[in-house]
Amino acid sequence: MELRKGLEDIAIKETSITFIDGELGRLYYRGYSIFDLASFSNFEEVAYLIWYGKLPTRHELEDFKSRLAEERGVSEDITSFVVRTSKQGNPMDILRTAVSMLGLEDRQEGDFIGKAIRITAKIPTIISLIQRSRNNQEFLEPDLSLSHAENFLYMINGTKPNAQDSRVLDVALMLHMDHEMNASTMACLVVASTLSDIYSSVVAGISALKGPLHGGANSEALKQFMEIGSPDNVEKYVMGKLSSGQRLMGFGHRIYKSMDPRAKILKEYATRMAKNEEINRLIEIAMKVEEVGIKVLGRRGIYPNVDFYSGLVFYSLGFEQDLFPTIFASARVIGWTAHIDEYLKDNKLIRPKAIYVGDLGKRYVPIDER
Ligand code: CMC
Repeated sequence: MELRKGLEDIAIKETSITFIDGELGRLYYRGYSIFDLASFSNFEEVAYLIWYGKLPTRHELEDFKSRLAEERGVSEDITSFVVRTSKQGNPMDILRTAVSMLGLEDRQEGDFIGKAIRITAKIPTIISLIQRSRNNQEFLEPDLSLSHAENFLYMINGTKPNAQDSRVLDVALMLHMDHEMNASTMACLVVASTLSDIYSSVVAGISALKGPLHGGANSEALKQFMEIGSPDNVEKYVMGKLSSGQRLMGFGHRIYKSMDPRAKILKEYATRMAKNEEINRLIEIAMKVEEVGIKVLGRRGIYPNVDFYSGLVFYSLGFEQDLFPTIFASARVIGWTAHIDEYLKDNKLIRPKAIYVGDLGKRYVPIDER
């Protein structure tokens, strides 16, 4: 039996959701290029596309938008849990538990996509509750007249966002919605393939996304730029990190061997939206890290990934640094649930093998003789 560490290059399902060309740095959702979707589409339309497999008509989109908006509220139980834990808890742990609580509260059978819509609509409410309550700011009820991205920013910052900021978040969320068989989607499928429920599967996805090799990298990448402090320190920092065997956060990808197209788009937005001295300096540092990093790692196919510039974008929009992986989760939940839905149409329990390398036939030694 062949050992494939990390399941590298193993396909576990056929899909018509997402295609990645890792050599050319291209990404497609349902056949549409991410560059076109980021230029012309919006969060609601792409969520519909990923779940239902086609672009909505005007009427379908309006219907879908209202459905999503109406599901934004969370129960008093969840509100008080988040408020109680927001000051000490890691935001991904709080989100994971809150989604688990959503599962306890949902007693309806069936309607898989309906449940996916409900979870997706409520995650921004939970995230903004974390940020606002730990800063002793009053909790704002969701504004149903606003789009998903506008309302998310409104609930975080307490003011209606300008058109540019909501567009930037809209695009950033679209870019994070799906990415084929990444670690967190795989975690969701392992759970779903046992015919467990959607909430348990999404909790598994959040748990896998939390790690710094996956969705936790966006927060780590910004931390890295902050630690560097000035563009003059970049060369020394990057070379020091790499020569001591550490990884450059926001660099490298299992599939992309060229620049991640999502990083290209986010870089453009990050540089366009530069707002104050601190953010301008961080952007300058990031661009220098990109340059030095590519010089050293590029020949091995290691380039900036989605997490390299996304943190800068989220930070500029008013999100606190440790919340970044939760924003990633708020979009990726669409991909997780679409893949579960697709997988369950032809389910096969996920149960790989391990190659045993231990001894056999050992004599059992009673405890007094050991
Ligand atoms: N900095 C320095 N070296 C790296 C990096 C990096 N960021 N990424 C990979 N390498 C090296 C690694 O040290 C190894 O070298 P060697 O063969 O000499 O031991 C080689 O490249 C292969 O690394 P690997 O970990 O076996 O390859 P992988 O396909 O499992 O790596 C990765 C993918 C994302 C885990 C890795 O690139 C990494 O740790 N990156 C930093 C964390 C990060 O930015 N994660 C976000 C990933 S993209 C979006 C997401 O999923 O959230």
